[in-house]
Amino acid sequence: MYCTKKITSDLIWLGGSDRRLALFENVYPIPRGVSYNAYLIQDEKTALLDTVDQAIAERFFENLEHALQGKPLNYVIVNHMEPDHAATLGTVLSRYPEATVIGNAKTLPMIKQFFPMEVEGRFQAVKEGDTLSLGRHELTFVMAPLVHWPEVMMTYDTTEKALFSADAFGTFGAMDGNIFADEVNFEQEWLDDARRYYTNIVGKYGTPVQNVLKKAAGLDIQYLCPLHGPIWRENIGWFLEKYKRWSTYTPEAWTAAIFCGSIYGHTENACEILTSRLAEKGVRHVRIFDVSHTDVSEQVSAAFQCSHLVFASATYNGGIYTPMETLLLELKAHALQNRTVALIENGSWGPAAARLMAKHLEEMKGMEQIAPPITIRSAVKEEQYRKLEDLADLIAADIAAEE
Ligand code: FEO
Repeated sequence: MYCTKKITSDLIWLGGSDRRLALFENVYPIPRGVSYNAYLIQDEKTALLDTVDQAIAERFFENLEHALQGKPLNYVIVNHMEPDHAATLGTVLSRYPEATVIGNAKTLPMIKQFFPMEVEGRFQAVKEGDTLSLGRHELTFVMAPLVHWPEVMMTYDTTEKALFSADAFGTFGAMDGNIFADEVNFEQEWLDDARRYYTNIVGKYGTPVQNVLKKAAGLDIQYLCPLHGPIWRENIGWFLEKYKRWSTYTPEAWTAAIFCGSIYGHTENACEILTSRLAEKGVRHVRIFDVSHTDVSEQVSAAFQCSHLVFASATYNGGIYTPMETLLLELKAHALQNRTVALIENGSWGPAAARLMAKHLEEMKGMEQIAPPITIRSAVKEEQYRKLEDLADLIAADIAAEE
């Protein structure tokens, strides 16, 4: 049975949530589920903005039929072709053969790659600034390449002042009836997932995100309608500011995140000595992440959030402890940059982790080591204890100076 929501009298949310999927993109844990948002504008002409993942196809088609109220579907606007939004596009095109498909030059080849049916005859290509009138509603198109895929665009409804922002401004998390960000405690209950979503899905594409933020700054946005998670109609500037920080790789928090790869607890002991001293020196919100037990997507998110990062790794098979190497590869893949870092290594007979971790960090932009690496041989001794205290003092002073 349909379950739609009105955003305004003409604008209808047709999405749904998947609470069963364990891994988004088959890689990111989503214990709170995820929503797939699609929208319909009701006017003299009707326009569907994106479709949904196959997992909620049945509900989506019930929603669409209900929202159309017996009218034909005139336009299907494809802002993003990734299957979490476009898996049901082929069925929409079959069920509504009268609908014209709106996309840009990069959209059409992707539709043809994913779906077997003929679309050229019903495809209308748009480019930056092109407009489409639905009657009362005038739409304009904003290209947003690489926010997340090359064909991504956004649609701005100048009548509702609504920006349909594709993946941008989305978040993990199923929606429980409250579809507006001002109806939930976003900062307390959603922000961590919004950050984890941004950093892991779009984090690599900071410059394209900044480009689109510049375009968004020129628009009067009363409704911000992403493809995942709550819709914004209040306090939009607060969320835009988060995006400004994330996309410029600027820390949100002046504190230290300690990533710990420990086999028998001796490297962990070093991390605890370090964090204990940091706390004594007044650094707040310090966290240790056990790289073996914390999902790497959470660690990527924390690394984007925090100003100072410490990587403490056992030496393993002559290299970096495997989960730590995975973390460093993920940080590199997501283009994290401009952080103050420190390295701790452990090795009972041939410590090599620090040198190898440094090589990864050298391949990233603006990763500055605050002190020489600390080497532990099996267990922390008095000499390393003092070095850990000195490292904590350096980090604490640096944070105090930057705050
Ligand atoms: Fe939510 Fe890039 O797809």
